[in-house]
Amino acid sequence: MRGKLITLEGIDGSGKSTVAERLQKNPEIQTLKPIFTREPTRGTLTGNAVEKAIQSDTDQLAELFLFTADHAEHLAKVVRPALESGKLVISDRYSDSRYAYQGMTLKTRLENPLEWVKDLHRGWTIVPDLTFLFDIRPEVSIERCGKRGEQSKFEKLEFLRGVREIFLRFAAEDPERFIVIDAFHSPEYIEKEVMEKILEFLSRN
Ligand code: TMP
Repeated sequence: MRGKLITLEGIDGSGKSTVAERLQKNPEIQTLKPIFTREPTRGTLTGNAVEKAIQSDTDQLAELFLFTADHAEHLAKVVRPALESGKLVISDRYSDSRYAYQGMTLKTRLENPLEWVKDLHRGWTIVPDLTFLFDIRPEVSIERCGKRGEQSKFEKLEFLRGVREIFLRFAAEDPERFIVIDAFHSPEYIEKEVMEKILEFLSRN
């Protein structure tokens, strides 16, 4: 039987990576032997290219293709093989990040960037079975990012408002796949909530 794909999404500073790290150490989840992974990937040709691109003034369309190339590599080398061998895969960011972030960065370049980026993935991506959306107000997330000393070009308030809106729209349109988590809570509380929902989902599927 094919394994299950769970993704964690949210704007920068939503705390999803902290929760991903906590989940990796969670004894209950360890018994499920999941594969923890992320996008952009780390230490790969495509992941390194993405990292360099987002740290510099790269053309937004070029950036989209780099993120998408990284997704193709991630799917081919990590996600697809793991799912085919029946494993549980948990990815910190995945395709929805592309739809939401590049849906915003390409707003002035394309007529309907969101649909265009979705179309680009059609026929070869794997749609997640379950997606946690870590929802937080951008004002709060930016303060958190500031505390970490990170200055990503994707962290501007108006921009993150737009990204959040797209994520929330996805969740409203597909309540079967999305679970919205109030990311204002503490990491302990969120870890427990996510853990419960994962176990509940796996018992049903
Ligand atoms: P990270 O902070 O989760 O490592 O992600 C790096 C940045 O890249 C973050 O600001 C979100 C952004 N991003 C995109 O714009 N498009 C994508 O497809 C992905 C995966 C991330």
